[in-house]
Amino acid sequence: MSAWSLRSVLVASEFPVIEVVSAVAMNIDILTIFPEFFREVFDFGIIRRARLADIVAINVHDIREFTTDKHRMVDDRPFGGGDGMVLKPEPIFAAIENLLGTSDRNKFTARTKVVLLSPQGRPFKQAVAKEFAVDAERILIICGRYEGIDERVNETLVTDEISIGDYVLSGGEPAAVVLVDAIVRLLPEALGSETSAENDSFSSGLLDYPHYTRPAEFRGMKVPNVLLEGNHAEIEKWRKAKALEKTRSNRMDLLEGENGEM
Ligand code: ADE
Repeated sequence: MSAWSLRSVLVASEFPVIEVVSAVAMNIDILTIFPEFFREVFDFGIIRRARLADIVAINVHDIREFTTDKHRMVDDRPFGGGDGMVLKPEPIFAAIENLLGTSDRNKFTARTKVVLLSPQGRPFKQAVAKEFAVDAERILIICGRYEGIDERVNETLVTDEISIGDYVLSGGEPAAVVLVDAIVRLLPEALGSETSAENDSFSSGLLDYPHYTRPAEFRGMKVPNVLLEGNHAEIEKWRKAKALEKTRSNRMDLLEGENGEM
């Protein structure tokens, strides 16, 4: 079964590759009915660098490639009636069996996750991204469509049903990009030595503090003096206060612990 690899896009080859598990820290496979959606999206910044440094391998698979019927149908009408079409189970089971050797989640290795992206999933947060970055070495991401996906996929294949927020996307593809980005940047070495994820918003339980760069004055707007004076204890104090202020103003729920684990 073929898949085109983002690696092959990078070397400007359209030639489909046979699926291989690369000797990298993490292998990510994305199952979608719109593979073209991902053609360039992982080709920038930290994600591109992590792929080139063999920290992560990302392979995109067209669910339609795993159909066996004449019309290569990936969806069908819902039993019980209703609007829209539902993604069929057969090609998704076939894809997972092809990639993992089994469609029984009880037989997956401990560090394998099969994620279904849907608005019904558990909320994706920084803590969940960390959990995946630490606990997983193989992540298969199934992009659902907004009308739905046959629930038997969820019942037997899926280890984690995830939602990226309380809104409905037309499909899981944008959510897959969010997931991959948030997880890959947390892999050891992905950010490079010059920066770290420890100061990210949410890591401390607060939003990030404001940042400034040169010029020190721009159109009459001045950078706060404390940042120019070089007193590191004062700078830390200022940053902590500003992080708190920003969190209070934009995300009171984080301070009240209403939003669960971050
Ligand atoms: N598919 C449609 N809406 C979604 C959401 N909010 N999160 C993840 N996948 C989705």
